[in-house]
Amino acid sequence: MRYIERDSNLKTIGAPKSVLAFGVLLLFGCSPSEKTEVRVELESLHACQILLEAGMRSIATTRDTRFLGKVAEATTKCRGGDYAAKFRATPWTDWENYWAAGDLSSKAPDFVRQAGLAGPNERGLDGALLDLEYERIELIKFNLFDNNKTYEAYVSGRKGVGGSALKVWPEMRLPEGHPEYVNVGGAGEQLCRGELVRHRTLTGICNDIRNPLMGSTGQLFARNVEFSATFPDLGGNELAKNRHGDRLGLLKPDPQVISRTLLTRAQSDPGKCNDGYGLKDYSADANCDYKKAPFFNVLAAFWIQFMTHDWFTHLEEGHNADEFMAVGCSEADVKVLGCRPADRIDKAYVAESGKPATFTHAGVEHATRAPRTFRNNTTAWWDASQIYGYDERSLKRVKRDPSDPAKLLLIQVVGRSSKGDVLGYLPLLAPADPINPDWKGQEATAFPDNWSIGMSFYTNLFAREHNLFVQEFRRVTALTPDADCGMRNPAAPERVIRYKDVTADELFEAARLVISAEIAKIHTIEWTTQLLYNEPLYRGMNSNWSGLFGADKGVSTVLGQIVSRSFGKSNDVKNATQWYSVFASGAGIFGLGSKVYAEDPIFAAFDPNKKDVWSLSNPDHVNGGVNHFGSPFNFPEEFVTVYRLHALVPDLIEYRELDGDPNRIRNKIPVVETFRGKATDAMRMRGLSNWALSMGRQRLGALALQNHPRFLQNLKMDRLKSETQQIDVAALDLIRDRERGVPRYNEFRRQYGLRQITRFDDLIDQHVPVGSDERKQQEALVKSLRETYGQHTCDASKIITDAQRSADGSPTNDCLGLKDGSTVDNVEDVDTIVGYLAESTRPHGFAISETQFVVFILNASRRLFSDRFLTSSFRPEFYTQLGVDWVDHNGPGPEMTEKGKPNGHEQPVSPLKRLLLRTMPELAGELQDVVNVFDPWARDRGDYYSLAWKPRHGAESDDAFKNP
Ligand code: HEM
Repeated sequence: MRYIERDSNLKTIGAPKSVLAFGVLLLFGCSPSEKTEVRVELESLHACQILLEAGMRSIATTRDTRFLGKVAEATTKCRGGDYAAKFRATPWTDWENYWAAGDLSSKAPDFVRQAGLAGPNERGLDGALLDLEYERIELIKFNLFDNNKTYEAYVSGRKGVGGSALKVWPEMRLPEGHPEYVNVGGAGEQLCRGELVRHRTLTGICNDIRNPLMGSTGQLFARNVEFSATFPDLGGNELAKNRHGDRLGLLKPDPQVISRTLLTRAQSDPGKCNDGYGLKDYSADANCDYKKAPFFNVLAAFWIQFMTHDWFTHLEEGHNADEFMAVGCSEADVKVLGCRPADRIDKAYVAESGKPATFTHAGVEHATRAPRTFRNNTTAWWDASQIYGYDERSLKRVKRDPSDPAKLLLIQVVGRSSKGDVLGYLPLLAPADPINPDWKGQEATAFPDNWSIGMSFYTNLFAREHNLFVQEFRRVTALTPDADCGMRNPAAPERVIRYKDVTADELFEAARLVISAEIAKIHTIEWTTQLLYNEPLYRGMNSNWSGLFGADKGVSTVLGQIVSRSFGKSNDVKNATQWYSVFASGAGIFGLGSKVYAEDPIFAAFDPNKKDVWSLSNPDHVNGGVNHFGSPFNFPEEFVTVYRLHALVPDLIEYRELDGDPNRIRNKIPVVETFRGKATDAMRMRGLSNWALSMGRQRLGALALQNHPRFLQNLKMDRLKSETQQIDVAALDLIRDRERGVPRYNEFRRQYGLRQITRFDDLIDQHVPVGSDERKQQEALVKSLRETYGQHTCDASKIITDAQRSADGSPTNDCLGLKDGSTVDNVEDVDTIVGYLAESTRPHGFAISETQFVVFILNASRRLFSDRFLTSSFRPEFYTQLGVDWVDHNGPGPEMTEKGKPNGHEQPVSPLKRLLLRTMPELAGELQDVVNVFDPWARDRGDYYSLAWKPRHGAESDDAFKNP
């Protein structure tokens, strides 16, 4: 109980000092125990006074003076009492210890809460949101590095405009020879128009109508870290040399050894797991132990794989470059670890290598790109390209229904007869389709790589949803054929398009827009709020989507106008970046700039008759809501790193069926038995809703050390030209990061403005009592980390970074605060994935670590900020009015409200819950008590952000609760 702990910590504090304190005590007239609590509150109020006097902290001007998520002592006390202040010395961000940022025990008691907005809980929550906004502003300021040669303009500016306020780049023009070159203006000013602006294009060009190439297929991945901090093992940088000596290489320290010692799931009965292959006939007696996250289910694991297939891929058609390389461990390690010396893998594609060009600004030399660059071989936009395609080849795999080409082709599967099954299943890839032979027998879709039951599930689901939207549009058309559907053609913007005028192609494209926006919404307000299950993030994510003011659309819309019309257009760097970011969280990013009022924005808030003058003929309206903060949008390599989430996947799926007893686990089906074509067989044989039930009830794997699926460490793949024909995907994750020059863990943290660690013991969670089993396990992991990565004798004369200073303000050197010549842990060498999995100190309800989270803060917001279709072009002219309402209301008809007040919020029925109910009505009973589809379906959500693993009413006999 956190509050009790807070209380007892504070008993040593002296009597209240301020007059205000006395007054409040009288006012409450409380019992002795309450008096102690009032005193607690008064102490923290006193700290607030100090905080107010000190004023707001200013945004850092240099990267080594960043916020680091650490606040002054008075601030911590004001927002979380002495409990929070106790953890100030740790490397981890402070906000997680504030009032109300955890479960019920983190809240101040009711009578104190009567102090209203200024009460401790609101102070804690507001403080947490403020800290997160500081982080976002500094991330926008210090962490954008584009590889597409716009970096010089970002640093130097152009024609008197500061770099981060630039909005158009010559490098984002379509090159001569591009099929649309002439249509966007050729050698003159380029501006997308006509058909090119109406829908999401196949290759993602013309999302930003003034920067046609941005985010399109084949553009280079960006970076979030200084170019000089990338590729620490190439020896091109003095600081990196000092940091790592000669200890790093592609296979140094050995990735398979790291995988087997630090990433392998321990098994209590290895025979029952059989390396992830389970038992004969999928017997339910099989068991592969794994560390489970009680508040996140297997549907959530596959959701994120489905998302990454939309956002990025380094591979082309499921393979890398032609050349193979050895990635096996040494013979010496085989006996002890059971690793494989003969493993080989295809090398990563490299777009550019060789010394980058340089430029000088303000006397400092900068590189124009990282030493090596890589292509993102899909569109970077949130455009459902994994379903609809991202180039001509992938498009050939997308099947449309010949009887209504506005629909995707779905077919009836013999033997499948549930209510949802009438909507059908995806057809198989046809013999004439262009495919990698590994994909034979799979369902037809644009992105077929690493197909599994999860990919099959979501692709079928959204294909059904696509068709339901089309069906509803057709229904409305039949009722009101002459009514205005809201869509417009930019070639004739004034002409009303009636329902009956809409062609099948136009409707198909509008449906794609709706599906992509729905996916973005589910991800932002449903998946992420369960991934980061606490109140600050619930508020933060909902404000990213719809604004801090939630239902008060008036205030949000006005803020939206202020943001896009003044800050968004500003040439002033500060307005265009930090103020834009702050005000955008008030307004919500989604739909930003999609309303333009003739009146003064403030006045418009109060004018019920205000007129929206947004116009399709005005490029500044169409494109007016986007902001790239001076750096064209694409994902950075570091984003891929933090999405290497293979630990989420269990080895065995606990299979259940809706008919009969859903509480019974009937089979344990190895995930590897649902890999590629086998996924398609499994889907058709057992049915979409049984898989929904099974993956919805099962907990996913915690993102922790020693928790990678066995089957992925021993994955068989036909394309491998090796004796073993197997690969260890956990080891490969480390190898790929090294090939792509991702900085190692400690420098990665510094680069993102998080406090560095100085020894492996820093990774132990100080909240966990000394001597407890949990603490002992963490200590054992620290020991393994030290054995694997080693130690060295430090040299204090070697400065190892310019991104952060030591705690005493001096430059950080090789000794990390210890005396010259001391033995120090090789914390600098830890692979970033290993480091973030080792972080046991996490904010309440965080399935990911804070190092991963900080990467999301920046990039998840940018993915919305940069996309016209999620901001100023979220309009009926593109989506149709039915489409806009569908996205806003989570489906057809009016918005529905969830029963009760989950975690204290009145909230709409979640977007994915409604989608599941539409596509699989047979799930109605099962979903009755589900508030968030990614929370295990049979779990009792309990009180405020509880993480307890307890069955809800009706699921008491569920087998999963017998095994904590
Ligand atoms: C059945 C489940 C899965 C299988 C068989 C699988 C397999 C693989 C393989 C073989 C690679 C290596 C590609 C290469 O670099 O050569 C890979 C990469 C990757 N996987 Fe998975 N994976 C699975 C689930 C997941 C999940 C749940 C996530 C969660 C986000 C994920 C995220 C990634 C990412 C981000 C990459 C890097 C992709 C890139 O470089 O473009 N995977 N996966």
